[in-house]
Amino acid sequence: MKILITGAKGQLGTELKKQLTCGYSEIGEIPSALKNAEVLYTDVEELDITNQQQVKQFILQHKPDIIISSAAFTNVDGCETSTDAAFQVNAIGPRNLAMAAEQVGAKLIHVSTDYVFSGQENGRIPLDESYLPNPVSAYGRTKLLGEQYALQFCSKTFVVRTAWLYSYTGKNFVFTMINAGKKLGKLTVVNDQLGNPTNAVDLAHHLLKLAVTEEYGIYHCTGEGVCSWYDFACEIIRLSGVNAEVSPCTSQEYAEKNPAAARRPAWSALENRMLRCTVGNEMRQWQEALKVFFEHYKPQ
Ligand SMILES: NC(=O)c1ccc[n+]([C@@H]2O[C@H](COP(=O)([O-])OP(=O)(O)OC[C@H]3O[C@@H](n4cnc5c(N)ncnc54)[C@H](OP(=O)(O)O)[C@@H]3O)[C@@H](O)[C@H]2O)c1
Repeated sequence: MKILITGAKGQLGTELKKQLTCGYSEIGEIPSALKNAEVLYTDVEELDITNQQQVKQFILQHKPDIIISSAAFTNVDGCETSTDAAFQVNAIGPRNLAMAAEQVGAKLIHVSTDYVFSGQENGRIPLDESYLPNPVSAYGRTKLLGEQYALQFCSKTFVVRTAWLYSYTGKNFVFTMINAGKKLGKLTVVNDQLGNPTNAVDLAHHLLKLAVTEEYGIYHCTGEGVCSWYDFACEIIRLSGVNAEVSPCTSQEYAEKNPAAARRPAWSALENRMLRCTVGNEMRQWQEALKVFFEHYKPQ
């Protein structure tokens, strides 16, 4: 069994490496078929997914059985101004991987986002895989095209949408709140965008569960329970012990102070229906997963 990971230095890539190296995570063991797998960990230096020729050569040479693509242009505001780069990484990259995967008969696990949805859906019901995407940002649009290319060019594709991801390494909302809280002692955070904070441990665990199946298709894979960025920030500050005051604001107030910021969905809470109907949904409640995160991670 040979696995190729792209974007291996990112949040998800680092967590996948940890689980594939140890054989288990906080949630449980990884599938036994993956325990002695040969794993090729690559990031942009070794394998630039936007380079079609390089991707093809690499995949034809190594012939992986499974490709897990965690490479992406994840700076949501940056995608608005660097649209060409976002398009290359988030859309052309998955297309290159999918075409090469198909040539060697590999499975492709492509990770996507809740930001493929507009957030304007009525009823405030968590969105399952039957809802139609309608992105409102360059990040969402390029990620949606990446999903479509992955499904179109590789017959063994899993598209897995996650949201509000955090991990022990890299850039994420948890570290942003801790650092800003320490520096400023005061935070103002939007209270009218709702979604699902997701611990990368839970996401990686489920990607590995899916990898050993043939249950191809679109999946939602986010932490259980819904909250606003403000609720999330309050819990981060409480659990971290940082001495900072957190105040709510509206998206409009935030946009007035940050005119270059991308539009974000007001409601992008997802329902992990396909997971429940196939390999099982073991995603933890977001508060529980965050609590365990802080038991392992102690900010200096
Ligand atoms: N973070 C979130 O809140 C969030 C939410 C929903 C969905 N997702 C999705 O979840 C997946 C994993 O996200 P993440 O937070 O782990 O991302 P991340 O930490 O930003 O990691 C992405 C990795 O991909 C690398 N990369 C960028 N361009 C590349 C290229 N052309 N070829 C190969 N590698 C490249 C990045 O390198 P550099 O750092 O050098 O650019 C980085 O190491 C992504 O598909 C993302 O869209 C993330």
